[in-house]
Amino acid sequence: MYPAKFIPQVVRYVINKYTVPGGWLFDPFAGYGTVAIEAAITGRNAVLWDLNPTLRLLVEASTYCEPVSLRDLAVDFNYDDPFHPRWGNIRYWHPREFYDVLSRAWGYWRREVDRRLKPLVAIPLLKVTRYFSYSDEKIAKLYRSKYAVEKVQRLLSTNWRARMKKMYWDYARGVVEKVNEFQRYRPKPVEVVVRASDERVFTGEYVVVDSIREKLDREVDVLITSPPYLQAQEYIRSFKLELAWLGFSEEFIASLSKREIPYNGVGEGFISSRTYEVLKKEVEKLNHKKLLELYISYFNSLALFFNNNDKIRSVVAFFVGPVKIRNMRIPIDIIIKEHLEYLGWRHEVTLIDTIVSRRLFKSEINPATNLDDERTPTEHLLVMRRAS
Ligand SMILES: C[S@@+](CC[C@H](N)C(=O)[O-])C[C@H]1O[C@@H](n2cnc3c(N)ncnc32)[C@H](O)[C@@H]1O
Repeated sequence: MYPAKFIPQVVRYVINKYTVPGGWLFDPFAGYGTVAIEAAITGRNAVLWDLNPTLRLLVEASTYCEPVSLRDLAVDFNYDDPFHPRWGNIRYWHPREFYDVLSRAWGYWRREVDRRLKPLVAIPLLKVTRYFSYSDEKIAKLYRSKYAVEKVQRLLSTNWRARMKKMYWDYARGVVEKVNEFQRYRPKPVEVVVRASDERVFTGEYVVVDSIREKLDREVDVLITSPPYLQAQEYIRSFKLELAWLGFSEEFIASLSKREIPYNGVGEGFISSRTYEVLKKEVEKLNHKKLLELYISYFNSLALFFNNNDKIRSVVAFFVGPVKIRNMRIPIDIIIKEHLEYLGWRHEVTLIDTIVSRRLFKSEINPATNLDDERTPTEHLLVMRRAS
């Protein structure tokens, strides 16, 4: 359940149209890692970056190429060396009874599960952990709702241990099915280079992958990405419970939150777009300091990323959703298009997906003028080519 996951067909479309087998893809805001899955199936290589450390685990699980059986995913919920997350607030999220069993299962995961199988076991364990908590598992955000508190009370009055194990095995079965499904597509032996934030256990060193400050160290053919949305939820905060059980410290998680777009406080001076300037004046009129800050740091972060990365050889494919500040629609794709034109790229096409039908069709409207006549919410795939 990764929020705002790519529609895989969008990625596949870009791969088929703009790359050849053996070519290189790049997703600097890779999230769940959809690009890695599509790359492996179609025989392309890929570089994936994300601030969220879970990217590595998700990519390893979703592109797992060895045989796996349900037995390989066994977990001991009575393990005698429990793991305690390094988060002062963790007990706020679980009643004592659940915490005790979960910490044993996670102790087992850390110490006994084979390194290669760890991502596969982590997924059902994370799902169970979220369900057996006061956080509302129906909402991506970490949130203690009335429904979740009642759910915990109900569970406590039943044979919840048996239920927890059954739920684990049900999810584990789903993971094995997904792995087999992926393998039926006969993935090719491609290179997938993942850079995700990480906390080195032995040295205590923080590796923070902030894509706007990173630089590609190799050439790639196509950038395909769906960046954070302008008023996105905070990904790192939403994942805090998961990150804590995976072993990351509270301090490390806090250091990631500070880098998240658009909450990272990046100032002006990086973007070059007329539409950005015009709309900034409109946002200023709202007299809302916080909204203006978000607007500025969002676009300047994305611009900074492009200014730092000139190793993209032929195409930028940029997928963004509808955004409004108050009642004002913000055409992210047009602002990014103008900035990329300033950097020497040329506009190839903007494909518009009406969200209701999930169908891509070619827009006959000039992307520079379609601001007013849009009634349905749409997602836009902006495609830019390197001007030769
Ligand atoms: C819309 S999601 C991408 C979803 C992805 N396309 C998929 O298919 O799952 C945006 C991602 O940007 C990441 N992000 C936010 N700020 C970042 C930053 N400064 N550096 C790197 N990644 C960042 C978030 O962690 C999130 O995973």
